[in-house]
Amino acid sequence: MSSALLRATCRRAARRWSTVGGCDGSSTRRNGGVNRFHTGASSWVASGGWDERDADWAKSRRSNLDATSTRRAHSAALGFDETEPVNPFTIVNDELSAISARMRQAVTSEVPALATAAEYFFKVGAEGKRMRPTVLLLMASALTDLSSGGADALSRARAASVSIDHAPAHEVPDDTRRRQQRLAEITELIHVASLLHDDVLDSAATRRGLRALNLEVGNKLAILAGDFLLARASVTLASLRNTEVIELLSRVLEHLVTGEVMQMTAKPERLMSFDHYFQKTYFKTASLIANSAKAIVLLGGHDTETASHAYDYGRHLGLAFQFQDDVLDFVGSGSVLGKPTLGDLKEGIATAPVLFAAEEHPQLSALIERRFKHVGDVELAHDLVKRSDGIERTKELAREHSALAVKAVEALPAIDCPHALRCRKGLKELAYMAVNRIK
Ligand code: FPP
Ligand code: MG
Repeated sequence: MSSALLRATCRRAARRWSTVGGCDGSSTRRNGGVNRFHTGASSWVASGGWDERDADWAKSRRSNLDATSTRRAHSAALGFDETEPVNPFTIVNDELSAISARMRQAVTSEVPALATAAEYFFKVGAEGKRMRPTVLLLMASALTDLSSGGADALSRARAASVSIDHAPAHEVPDDTRRRQQRLAEITELIHVASLLHDDVLDSAATRRGLRALNLEVGNKLAILAGDFLLARASVTLASLRNTEVIELLSRVLEHLVTGEVMQMTAKPERLMSFDHYFQKTYFKTASLIANSAKAIVLLGGHDTETASHAYDYGRHLGLAFQFQDDVLDFVGSGSVLGKPTLGDLKEGIATAPVLFAAEEHPQLSALIERRFKHVGDVELAHDLVKRSDGIERTKELAREHSALAVKAVEALPAIDCPHALRCRKGLKELAYMAVNRIK
């Protein structure tokens, strides 16, 4: 492909993927004022936590709040100060701990070897960022009105949500929040299962800073551990007794497999295509967050329009997250990431930084099409990416999708509950964090 043609194709594909929905075209909202959210923003520290050093940002966040006295009273009842900037992980931390404890129970097996393998990434300290359950719990709360019923009702709701659900996976949960927690659990089980399979396919040595499970127990048991997690997720999914939600999550499984196989088997000319890259990225990363965000809203009894805003949020967040991942594979630190850098090039995969760089350095096309297989290809491609604006343009793409995720939160129906509003802020912070993280 000529570099002029490639440049035009990249621009068209990037625009199309910013403004329309995923592969099912479920959203058609336009992209306006996309960078507004990022101005003057600070950084999240390596741990993914709150960086208190950026006083200016915190100050500007506070001054933007127009809390009414009623809201303040409810905020106080819930034990938080709504004039403070929020850390999304802190908001859901207690509930997340309860879900993690439940997941540790869910992945036990009577067969010791299977239990050891399945538990591997659910042990305390090996759980990763738990970004997906965090998104889902925030989305569920962002639409839940806890403001009526007074302080007692609020603390009862809070206590119930942070208590561990010991019911067996097949037992039908009797209240909405429990069903939503189950969905957060299912999403994390599917995510970890996909990573176990992915590490076998990629012959990975490390994951989350630990030895990859395939190295610990071998490929066969690692694959079966992934299957076991999917089986546990399926039983839990069935317990929700909601066929639309079952269909959404089943579709996600189809997307994960399709995305992986697209990446593995693409013909040389498809490897140069931005459309192929966007579609694969949606399938592998964004579909799980988008469809589970939609599902958790449906489980909450909300209408389809609200569910589609949740889907949009998840899709844009997922895409932004992955574009930043593709940047970090070039500029990140292996020790901070918990996996080696330049992994994509070494696996023969051309991501956005390379596709953009190919516009400036047409000699990259041949390297992309032969999947960087010749001796010296990885180093040459790395060098050409560094001597291009590929990294900057990918960061810009990530920022656009992050801002679209923020717009999706702003499109959620109005609510006057302080906790829900705080969770909406948390969702926006996550969108910001997705593109400003270093791991
Ligand atoms: C990470 O990719 C992998 C995924 C996001 C999904 C992988 C999906 C499969 C292996 C299909 C099977 C799915 C299930 C549900 C069992 P990466 O290699 O680009 O990222 P990494 O650097 O984190 O490894
Ligand atoms: Mg991998």
